Formats: sequence, C-alpha cells, structure tokens
Amino acid sequence: MKKLFTIAVMAIFSIAALNAQDYKYIGAPKCKMCHNKPATGDQYGVWSTKLHANAMKSLSNELSMEYAKKNGIADPTKEMSCLKCHSTYYAVDASLRGGINPNEGVSCETCHGPGSKYKSPAIMRSQEASIAAGLIVPDKALCETCHNPENPFHKPFNYEEALKLIAHPNPQAK
Ligand code: HEC
Ligand code: HEC
Ligand code: HEC
Ligand code: HEC
Repeated sequence: MKKLFTIAVMAIFSIAALNAQDYKYIGAPKCKMCHNKPATGDQYGVWSTKLHANAMKSLSNELSMEYAKKNGIADPTKEMSCLKCHSTYYAVDASLRGGINPNEGVSCETCHGPGSKYKSPAIMRSQEASIAAGLIVPDKALCETCHNPENPFHKPFNYEEALKLIAHPNPQAK
C-alpha cells in the first residue's frame, strides 16, 4: 500500500515536472508590449534603467576583471559561476530559452516566472490563472537565491529596502 502510494506521488511529481518544462522564457521585449504604459506603471521602462537589466555589463567592468585575474577566471562574461546570477538566459536550461536574449541580465522572468503560457491578457488579468500558467509571485527567498554571500561582491541584503529600490508598481492595480 505504502509502495503504491509512493509510486502515485512520484507520478504526480513527474507530471508536474513535465508541465513545468512547457513554460518557456519569452524575454523582456515581449513583456514590454503590454508593460510599457506610463498609466499602468511602465514596468519595462523602470526595470531597464536599474542594475538588474544591466547585470551583464558588470561582468566586464574593472571590478570583475580584477577579480577574474586574481581567481584564475579567463572571462567572467563566459563564466557560469558568475552568469548564473547575472543573467536569466544563462541560468535556465537551453531547451527553455524561447526567445530570451543573453544580454537581458536579470530579467522579468527570473522574478515572475517563464511567460510563454501566462502572457495573454485574459490570463494576466487573473492572478490565479496566471499562477496556474507559470507566474511566480516573488518573495524574499527568491531574492536570496542571488543576494547571498556566494556573490563575491555581496552586501548585506535588506529585503524591505531592496524592494523599494526596484519597485515598479501599477498605480491602477487594486
Ligand atoms: C498581451 C499583454 C501582456 C503581456 C505580453 C504580458 N502581460 Fe503581464 N499583465 C497584463 C495585464 C493586462 C495585467 C493585469 C494588470 C494590468 O492591467 O497591468 C498583467 C499583470 C501582470 C503582473 C501582475 C500579476 C499579479 O496579479 O500579481 C505581472 C507580475 C506581470 N503582468 C508580468 C508580466 C511579465 C513578466 C511578462 C512577460 C513575460 C508579461 N507580464 C507579459 C498584460 C500582459
Ligand atoms: C538571478 C539573481 C537575482 C535575483 C533572483 C535577484 N537579484 Fe537583485 N541583483 C542581482 C544582481 C546580479 C545585481 C547587481 C547587478 C549589477 O550591479 O551588475 C542585483 C542588484 C539589485 C539591487 C540594486 C539595484 C539598483 O538598480 O540599484 C537591488 C535593490 C536588488 N537587486 C533587489 C532585489 C530584490 C528585491 C530581489 C527579489 C525580489 C532581487 N533583487 C532578486 C541578482 C539578482
Ligand atoms: C550568488 C549570486 C552571484 C554570483 C555567483 C555572482 N554574483 Fe555578482 N552580484 C550578485 C548580486 C546580488 C550583486 C549586487 C550586489 C549586492 O547587492 O550584493 C552583484 C554585484 C556584482 C558586481 C557589482 C559590484 C559593485 O559593488 O559594484 C560585480 C562587478 C559582480 N557582481 C561581478 C561578479 C563576478 C565577476 C562573478 C563571478 C566570479 C559574480 N559576480 C558572481 C550576485 C552574484
Ligand atoms: C528582481 C525581481 C524582479 C524583476 C527583475 C522584475 N520584477 Fe516585477 N515585481 C517584482 C516584485 C518584488 C513585485 C511586487 C510584488 C508584490 O507586490 O507582491 C513586482 C511587481 C510587478 C508587477 C505588478 C505591479 C502591481 O502593482 O500590480 C508587474 C506588472 C511586474 N512586476 C512586471 C514586471 C516586468 C514586465 C518586468 C521586466 C520588464 C519585471 N516586472 C521585472 C520583482 C521583479
């Protein structure tokens, strides 16, 4: 009985894993089509001026080059141990890159989940339907997958303060 139960649970998990694989990363320019209106908060415009959108650039700046030299890294822009936190594209399996660009840095879909299935307006208007289609509601734990001491340039992370610095609210949302 116990064994059968275990098999059933495993089957459910593998179906969930298969479904998760259906969600592809479509890239920030796709989100921009709808999320660039000042009246609803221009999330794309706000994000693009912040460090997340520009995180790939840091991997070739002077600090990175100096760190690379000291630690025997040939090129930080090609180094997975840096890219995994500085780029959504490189952090996800190649089979899931449905249009995302390597230079997007830490892109919308790192925090909100891969958008291929939730991007239609009918789904997006319902948070419940969006979550069922792959939307993630970001929380502190998600931020801390990158904002942690594994980062060679880590600074103490204050979640509440950090949220204010990246805020891109929709003034029309309830
Ligand atoms: C075709 C239009 C469209 C596209 C494309 C689109 N969205 Fe949306 N999104 C909406 C609409 C409409 C809402 C409802 C609120 C509003 O009017 O802004 C929404 C809401 C959201 C919300 C709030 C969800 C909630 O209820 O918590 C998030 C987060 C979001 N979108 C992220 C994204 C991301 C990330 C992408 C790209 C992967 C994306 N959207 C692509 C139209 C779109
Ligand atoms: C995939 C990894 C990753 C995740 C997840 C992540 N960040 Fe970041 N964040 C970075 C990187 C990398 C930088 C630095 C970019 C640079 O300087 O090149 C950064 C920079 C920042 C900054 C400075 C931004 C600025 O423009 O001044 C803030 C604030 C921040 N993150 C807050 C957050 C919050 C809040 C969350 C969760 C909702 C979060 N981050 C999730 C990787 C991440
Ligand atoms: C665990 C995730 C993570 C890894 C791994 C990581 N970074 Fe970062 N990096 C971040 C975050 C988050 C920030 C933003 C600083 C902060 O708030 O802690 C950042 C900031 C930076 C900055 C800006 C620092 C400043 O003070 O202006 C540089 C440069 C940088 N990282 C280079 C690298 C290089 C080079 C590597 C690989 C050797 C690397 N990072 C690996 C997450 C990471
Ligand atoms: C570093 C993580 C991070 C990135 C990158 C990011 N967001 Fe968000 N986003 C958040 C957080 C955190 C919230 C606030 C969630 C909440 O209020 O519960 C949010 C909220 C939103 C909302 C809802 C606003 C509201 O008030 O209803 C939309 C829409 C949205 N983001 C779209 C985007 C789009 C489009 C991009 C890329 C252009 C993007 N986000 C990039 C973390 C991120």
